[in-house]
Amino acid sequence: MTGTGKGLLELRLGSEEETARLGAALARAVAPFAARAPFVVHLRGDLGAGKTTLARAWLAALGHRGPVRSPTYTLVEGYEGEGWRAWHLDLYRLVDPGELEMLGIRDLLAVPGLLLVEWPERGGESVPPADLVLALSHDGSPGRRRARLEAQTARGTEALGRLDPASSRRGRGGEAGRDGSRSC
Ligand SMILES: Nc1ncnc2c1ncn2[C@@H]1O[C@H](COP(=O)(O)OP(=O)(O)O)[C@@H](O)[C@H]1O
Ligand SMILES: [Mg+2]
Repeated sequence: MTGTGKGLLELRLGSEEETARLGAALARAVAPFAARAPFVVHLRGDLGAGKTTLARAWLAALGHRGPVRSPTYTLVEGYEGEGWRAWHLDLYRLVDPGELEMLGIRDLLAVPGLLLVEWPERGGESVPPADLVLALSHDGSPGRRRARLEAQTARGTEALGRLDPASSRRGRGGEAGRDGSRSC
C-alpha cells in the first residue's frame, strides 16, 4: 500500500479475492456518507480490469444477497436494503450521453444512495461528478491489479480516510450497514 497524499491511495491487489476485499472495505468506509446524501464513485479501467468484480463485492458487503448482473445492456441496476440504496451503472455501451437523462440519472441524485459508475468517461457531462475515483489496471500477471483511489470532494477524502486498507489484505468480512445489520 502506498499513501501518496490525503486524498490519494494506491494499492496492489494480488488476487481477485483482494479486489473483493477492497470492495468490502470501501463499502464500510462509504456507507455513512451514502446514507445521508448521494455518493458517486467512478470506476475506471480497461475491460477485464475488475470494475464489476469490485462492485459485486461492494454490494454484497452492503448486505445484498443474490446475483449482481453487469448492467452492460440495461445501463443501470438498482439495489436496496435496510438503510442503504445503491445503483450500479455501466456506460460502456452508451451511444449518446443524452440517454442518461432519459434514464432518469437526475432522479438517482435526488435521494441518498451510492452510485457506482463503470465507464463514466462515456457519459460526458451527463455523469455526476465523482466523490471518489477508483482506477483499476493490470499489473504484470493475470491475477494482479493496481488500484488508485482519488478523492474529489471533502466527503470523498473523509471516506478514504476511514478506509482500512489493511482489511483488503487481511480479509475481514462482514457487513457494511449502518449498524452492521443484515438485510435481505
Ligand atoms: N485481482 C483481480 N481483481 C479483479 N478481477 C480479477 C483479478 N484477477 C483476475 N481477475 C479476473 O478478471 C476479470 C475481471 O472482470 P470484470 O470484473 O468484469 O472487469 P470489468 O468490469 O473491469 O470489465 C474477471 O474474470 C476476474 O475473475
Ligand atoms: Mg464491468
